[in-house]
Amino acid sequence: MLDAITVNNPLRTGLSETRTVDPCIMVIFGATGDLTQRKLVPALYSLAADQPPLPANLTIVGVARRDWSDDGFRAYVKEGVQKYARQPYDEALWETFAQGISYCQVEFDDDAAYYNLAETLARLEEERGTNGNRIFYLATPPRYYSDIVSRMGAAGLVQRTTDGPSYCRLIVEKPFGHDQESAQKLNAELNQVFKEDQIYRIDHYLGKETVQNILVLRFGNGIFEPLWSREYIDHVQITVAENIGVEGRGGYYEEAGALRDMVQNHLLQLTTLVAMEPPSGFGANVVRDEKVKVLHAIVPMSDDVIARDTVRGHYGSGWIGAEQEPGYTSEKGVAPNSQTETFVAAKIAIDNWRWAGVPFYLRTGKRLPKRITEVAIQFKTPPFSLFRKTGADELQPNVLSLRIQPNEGISLKFGVKSPGQAMHIRAMNMEFLYGSSFGAEPPEAYERLLLDCMVGDSTLFTRRDETEAAWEFVDAIEAGWHTEPEANPLQTYDPGTWGPHLADELLEREGRSWRRL
Ligand code: BG6
Repeated sequence: MLDAITVNNPLRTGLSETRTVDPCIMVIFGATGDLTQRKLVPALYSLAADQPPLPANLTIVGVARRDWSDDGFRAYVKEGVQKYARQPYDEALWETFAQGISYCQVEFDDDAAYYNLAETLARLEEERGTNGNRIFYLATPPRYYSDIVSRMGAAGLVQRTTDGPSYCRLIVEKPFGHDQESAQKLNAELNQVFKEDQIYRIDHYLGKETVQNILVLRFGNGIFEPLWSREYIDHVQITVAENIGVEGRGGYYEEAGALRDMVQNHLLQLTTLVAMEPPSGFGANVVRDEKVKVLHAIVPMSDDVIARDTVRGHYGSGWIGAEQEPGYTSEKGVAPNSQTETFVAAKIAIDNWRWAGVPFYLRTGKRLPKRITEVAIQFKTPPFSLFRKTGADELQPNVLSLRIQPNEGISLKFGVKSPGQAMHIRAMNMEFLYGSSFGAEPPEAYERLLLDCMVGDSTLFTRRDETEAAWEFVDAIEAGWHTEPEANPLQTYDPGTWGPHLADELLEREGRSWRRL
């Protein structure tokens, strides 16, 4: 069978570093779900089609409760590959790839089923020559995570060592816990079976090409870092907007809400990357040490501050184009009197030498006008307005905008004199677009993350202390909203708008405004 292959890792230590991808078995729990069909198998297929390709003996075992056959599971994931993979579908490649795919029915609470799974894995390892390397992927509803992992441990599926000839790793999908307490409990349970450095907690935002580029922009260039502080930056805005609603996930969303679903992970992760100190290297722990420091430096919010500096809302019904869309409370699985938010805006403060006094404004929501994720660094205006008599009031601050998606790129806004006798100053943008500069589509976030896990690089996964610190911050807001609901009334906003008016007031009262995106 095939040997390991090597791939470049430009992020870690330099363009010339290569990483070895050994053949392995990836066992996906919850394999009949959407994530496997839309993201996981298409990502593995695209990696298999890339140059260099994944080892051809990569083996995928789908595990779930449904009574499916190998062929049934293959047909299901083939459809996903055809629809969602970045790489075009190729029949010959698929045939080879599909030979490594099988299915194993497991009731998650049935001890015996895990022993059967152990036998299946041992047989496949023998047949496919995967050298005992195993990655277990938890893509089930989170309530099963602990049970699955403890039964895996009891059935001897897990090798609890990180320095043997083969590896055994666990990838855990979000949500990781529901609050800090449940995250701590889950961490403790997982740690009974896996060591911390065998656990890879996914936040797919960290796999996005442009999110990784935040580090390259900051630390791979000489000109930005000297300006990256309270001396020159007025404030930071982070927007993660979606135009879709909850899309059939009402049941899950009722439990989560936008604060837990988006802020606890994606928005706080973006915040840490923007705000962290330069790490001493790109090793997994040094990068994550710096990110955790940011989370610890975020000023905890008292109830008064929560009432003043956070806004929550959910979408009402309304017309989007020619379609009348239901409001959040009429979505399937949502209580008619639900108080769950689909929109959050918040102002947060980071209390450290670099950021004291620089607000970070975060906002995220569903059914907003468009799908866009952007980090905007707004710089201070010049201390003395030389052009004040010539329309200087119109001068706009410099903004460095990092567009995470779509139209990935970076733009820098600055004032220029418009041609003519008069001194008119106009804001112009200097733009870099990934699409036009590099041509090819960037890899999907899951491709990057699955590959990183295969090579044992956990830099782009969240560490135990990071997850728990993020929950601590979010729990306080959640508690504030619920202990004093009158002080934090849930707003209803029209679909296709930028959320409740109070979100605009949050900035306006400080003489600022959200960027028009
Ligand atoms: C997920 C959330 O983590 O991120 C979803 O659970 C959200 O509610 C999704 O729609 C957004 O991801 P992306 O990559 O489309 O911005």
